[in-house]
Amino acid sequence: MYEFDALIIGSGAAGLSLALRLDNGFRIAVISKGPLDDGSTAWAQGGISAVMDDDDSVEQHLADTIDAGAGLCDESAVLHTVSHGKEMITWLLQLGVEFTYETGLDGKKYLHLTREGGHTHRRVVHAADATGWAIQNALIKNTQKKSNIELFDHHIAIDLITTHKHLAKKNTNQCVGAYVLDTEENKVKTFKTKHVILATGGASKVYLYTSNPDGASGDGIAMAWRAGCRVANMEFMQFHPTCLYHPTAKSYLITEAVRGEGGKLLLPNGTEFAHEFDPRGVLAPRDIVARAIDYKMKQMGVDCVYLDISHKPKKFIQKHFPNVYARCLKLGYDMAKEPVPVVPAAHYTCGGVMTDLKGQTDVENLYAIGETTHTGLHGANRMASNSLLECLVFASSTSELINSKGTKISSKADIPHWDESRVTEPDEEIVVAHNWDELRRFMWDYVGIVRTNKRLQRAKHRVDLLTSEIDEYYSNFRVSGDLIELRNLTLVADLIIRSALRRKESRGLHYTLDYPETDSTLENIDTVLDPDLVSTLPKPVYATIR
Ligand code: FAD
Ligand code: SIN
Repeated sequence: MYEFDALIIGSGAAGLSLALRLDNGFRIAVISKGPLDDGSTAWAQGGISAVMDDDDSVEQHLADTIDAGAGLCDESAVLHTVSHGKEMITWLLQLGVEFTYETGLDGKKYLHLTREGGHTHRRVVHAADATGWAIQNALIKNTQKKSNIELFDHHIAIDLITTHKHLAKKNTNQCVGAYVLDTEENKVKTFKTKHVILATGGASKVYLYTSNPDGASGDGIAMAWRAGCRVANMEFMQFHPTCLYHPTAKSYLITEAVRGEGGKLLLPNGTEFAHEFDPRGVLAPRDIVARAIDYKMKQMGVDCVYLDISHKPKKFIQKHFPNVYARCLKLGYDMAKEPVPVVPAAHYTCGGVMTDLKGQTDVENLYAIGETTHTGLHGANRMASNSLLECLVFASSTSELINSKGTKISSKADIPHWDESRVTEPDEEIVVAHNWDELRRFMWDYVGIVRTNKRLQRAKHRVDLLTSEIDEYYSNFRVSGDLIELRNLTLVADLIIRSALRRKESRGLHYTLDYPETDSTLENIDTVLDPDLVSTLPKPVYATIR
C-alpha cells in the first residue's frame, strides 16, 4: 500500500502545474504511463493564448473563444480562463520557460505573439514551434527539485478506488485511491490517498489518424465514468486541419501558426479555397477549416491538400518553425521552396469529465483538470492555444481548493488490494492488437468529420461487440498496459458514439448529413451522459449542467 495526501494521475501541463502549486505540507505522488514527458503537452507547437498586448483585451479573447465554441461555451468558464492568461505566462517565465521574444520599435524586448485560427488578435505566446517542449521541461525540472513530490514514471492507473464500488458504502461516493500497474515490474500497486486528481489528457487515439502521442487513450474519462462521474460533449472531437500527409511517417502536426504567419491552403491545382467556406479563410476556427479540406478532398477525389508558406523568406521560416521545417525536410519537403501535403487528423477531445471551476467532479475528493475534462471552456469547438492555458488556470484554481481542504481529511477506509486470484496470463495477445486496430479504423470511417445516423449506428454495433469481447478478456487475463488502454479507448468510443447519436443537429465539430443545420433551440445545451442513468434512458438526454 502506497499512502499519499494527493495522487496526481498525469504529468503533463495540468498534472505537474498542480503538483507545483500544492502546499509543501502535502505528500504528493505523480504518476505517468511512460516517461514523464509522454503526454501531448511536450508535443504542443503553436503556443499559449494570453492577452498580453495593450491593443488586445480579455473581453475580445472571451468573445473569440465563445464564437469558436459555436454556442456551447459556458461564459463563466471562459472568463475564468482568459482572465488569468497574463498571470499564467508570468508564472511560466518564473519557472524558466524560454519563450520567443522580438525587439519592438522602441528597442525593447517583447514576447513575440503569433496568430492562430479564431483569434482576432495576435495573442499566442510561444517558444518558436516547440512551446510544449519548453513548458514540459521547465515543469519537470521544477518538480524534481521538490522533496514532497514523488514521481512514478511507467505506472499506469487501472481504476479509481471508490467507497461505492470497492467498499460497498451507500453514503456519499468518495474516491480513496487507485490501482496502478507498474509496467516495468509488472506488478499492481495500491495507492491510498486523500485527494485524487485526473490529469490524463485526451482520447484522440480513438481515431486511426491523429496528431497525438500513443498514450492519448482517454483513460481519465473512462476511469471517471466507471467511478460514477458524468461526462459531457464527447461528440466534439476536434480534427486539426493540417497534419503532414506522408505514406509511411507517423502523423505529424504542422502548426496553425504557419497559417497565422501567412501560410495558404491550396488544392492540388494550386488554387486557394478556404474563403469559399468562411470570410476568415485559413484562419477561421478549426472545425470550419478541417471540414472545408475534407469536403474538397472528397469532392475532387484527392488524398490531400497543400500548405504553402514558400513565399516567405527561408530565414523567416527557419526562425519561426525550426522543428517543423526540419521534420518536413527530413521527409522530403522543403517548406521554403514548395507546398507541403496536408490532411486533417484527430487532435483534441473537447468533451470529458464534467467539473466545476475548481476541478471538482461528481465524486468526492476526485478532481479532473486539463484535456480530460469538460469545464465549459471549449463548447462545440476549442479555439487554438486555449488548451495549455486551460491546463494551467484550472490547475491553479483546483490547487486552491485542495490546499484549503488540506491533508487532514479522514482516510480511514480499509482498501482492498488488487485481486489477481482468478486471472491467468493472456493466451492471445493478438486479440488486443487486432481490436485496437479495428476500433480506430471504424471510428475513423464512421465517426469522423462528417457523420450520418447510419454510420453512427454501424459504429455503435461494432463497439458493442468489441466491448463484450474486451470485458471477457479483461476478467479472465492479467492486465497489461495495452489491455488497460484498449478497454478505456473502447469505452470512450462508446461515449463518443452515444453523444453523437443524441445530438440531432450540426454544430461546431459535430457535423451530420442527416441534420445539416444548427438547431437554435439547442444553444447552451450540452450532451451530458450520466453513468447512473445511461442504461435506463435509451432516448436522447440533454441536460443543462450549469
Ligand atoms: P497531457 O499532456 O496529454 O498528459 C497526460 C498525462 O497523463 C501523461 O503524463 C500520461 O502519461 C498520463 N496518463 C494518461 N493516462 C494515464 C494512466 N492511466 N495512468 C497514468 N498516467 C496516465 N494546445 C495548445 O494550447 N497550444 C498548442 O500549441 C498545442 N499544440 C498541440 C500540438 C500537438 C501535436 C498536440 C497533440 C496537442 C497540442 N495542443 C496544443 C493540445 C495540448 O497540448 C494538450 O491539450 C495539453 O497539453 C494536454 O495537457 P494535459 O496535461 O491535460 O495532458
Ligand atoms: C497548433 O500549433 O496548430 C496546435 C495548436 C492547438 O492545438 O492549440
